[in-house]
Amino acid sequence: MALLQHSKWTFLFPIIFLIVTLSSMSQAELDAHYYDKTCPQAEKIISDTVASASKFDPKVPARILRMFFHDCFIRGCDASILLDSTPTNQAEKDGPPNLSVHSFYVIDEAKAKLEKACPHTVSCADIIAIAARDVVSSSGGPHWNVLKGRKDGRVSKASETANLPAPTLNVSQLIQSFAKRGLGVKDMVTLSGGHTLGFSHCSSFQSRIRGFSVLHNIDPSLNTEFALDLRNKCPKPNTNFSAGHFLDSTASVFDNDYYKQLLVGKGLFSSDQSLVGDQRTRWIVEVFAKDQGLFFKEFVASMLKLGNVGVSQNGEVRLNCKVVN
Ligand code: HEM
Ligand SMILES: *[C@@H]1O[C@H](CO)[C@@H](O)[C@H](O)[C@H]1NC(C)=O
Ligand SMILES: *[C@@H]1O[C@H](CO)[C@@H](O)[C@H](O)[C@H]1NC(C)=O
Ligand SMILES: *[C@@H]1O[C@H](CO)[C@@H](O)[C@H](O)[C@H]1NC(C)=O
Repeated sequence: MALLQHSKWTFLFPIIFLIVTLSSMSQAELDAHYYDKTCPQAEKIISDTVASASKFDPKVPARILRMFFHDCFIRGCDASILLDSTPTNQAEKDGPPNLSVHSFYVIDEAKAKLEKACPHTVSCADIIAIAARDVVSSSGGPHWNVLKGRKDGRVSKASETANLPAPTLNVSQLIQSFAKRGLGVKDMVTLSGGHTLGFSHCSSFQSRIRGFSVLHNIDPSLNTEFALDLRNKCPKPNTNFSAGHFLDSTASVFDNDYYKQLLVGKGLFSSDQSLVGDQRTRWIVEVFAKDQGLFFKEFVASMLKLGNVGVSQNGEVRLNCKVVN
């Protein structure tokens, strides 16, 4: 009997080994304990850096959360968003939708400290993922264990930022954009809840408040009072590039207020507001507006999925997040 089992295992082992090897070649396995031995202080260094930068500049949390989304949507979560342009290449950073994704310096600062504490160990892509978790929890949102082990990519192209979803997209287009990254309808609605933090410039919602269509000067899906507030904040098109509006009514707190606002016509972008106008997504908005705990739980699950997009072992651990090694 023992012999039989033994021979079965000696037979199966090479097959199991082959399967494991093959699957890890195509997709890297991320691990919550990835730096436990090589850099146990990594997360504390990152959290402290993010916390002090946020204290100094309250815009940092929203910018870092958005940075993670943009990084993962272009070439997977590989810190391609952090590479600087070179004389022969215009990088993602300098692509059109970079307007409000400043705060790259926070990640660079954490990286500099990590290079002193544990040289050539922690990837820039992992720093973004950890920092994104930190800004969510420190703003009142959920906390979770970030899976780590991403490698940094060597390519960053400004032209590819055109593949980020635009604020004018409708639900079908949003679903398609997320599906390309292996994310479902529920992930799309849940991750849109990232708009519970932060601010938008007038240019991203301008078309909704003036000359919307032949019949309607103002987008009829907008709450009237809210539309007037937006027109006040953005008096003339494209004159004041720092003017704009917060994404929900509690823009520095991570909560479910974003969904509550959508239900009363106060979603800032067409892409936000469209979520209540479509039966595939409306029910999810309604559930999250009622149940913040469920939103938090789903947000964690979807952030873990977002953090897995396009992750592979083809890459390096950059020494400086701005340049390839
Ligand atoms: C669903 C598709 C999405 C679209 C069309 C979209 C679009 C936008 C736009 C146009 C802005 C304002 C940019 C500006 O004018 O400054 C913005 C801001 C922001 N987005 Fe999204 N976004 C989407 C999904 C996400 C996701 C998935 C997250 C994160 C989980 C996210 C996080 C943020 C944050 C935090 C801000 C505020 C940034 C700041 O205050 O600097 N967005 N988004
Ligand atoms: C954003 O991109 C524009 C070009 O589209 C560039 O002039 C600007 O410096 C970039 N801003 C940042 C913060 O990278
Ligand atoms: C979404 O927009 C696309 C492109 O403009 C259009 O073809 C499609 O019919 C729209 N879908 C919905 C549900 O509005
Ligand atoms: C531009 O907008 C910002 C933010 O709303 C505001 O503080 C500033 O006074 C405005 N500048 C001008 C010239 O209107």
